[in-house]
Amino acid sequence: MKTVYITRRETFNAAHKLYREDWTVEKNEEVFGRCSNHNWHGHNFTIFVTVKGKPSPDTGFVMNLKDLSDIIKAEVIEPLDHKNLNLDVPFLKGMLASTENVVIQVWDRIKAPIAIAGGELVKIKLVETENNYVEYFGGNEPF
Ligand code: NI
Repeated sequence: MKTVYITRRETFNAAHKLYREDWTVEKNEEVFGRCSNHNWHGHNFTIFVTVKGKPSPDTGFVMNLKDLSDIIKAEVIEPLDHKNLNLDVPFLKGMLASTENVVIQVWDRIKAPIAIAGGELVKIKLVETENNYVEYFGGNEPF
């Protein structure tokens, strides 16, 4: 049986800022630019979660995309949508709310539930703006 990669897309919006309390305002502006804006800014995020597996002889599915959607909604969209990533999200507390750090935390939240549902998480792509996105492979870099 051949391995197939399937991807589910979901969206959420959230506010954040990139700012270190232990740096001066000037240093934060120099490093983070407009993203350090004191009174926050928001993004419409799009997340693509890719799972691999062999299609089931019974269903033809790698895993049920409804199950994958439910996991992403419960573990990612519910806790992040319409939230301030710096202030409102327990699993992001104490870290810079960069898209890179968010994607790592999201991986750790959804990997196990996806495995229980019969899939193997291989990639998360998190799109922050039209021009910027990050990809994470859970430490299993394909290149
Ligand atoms: Ni930003």
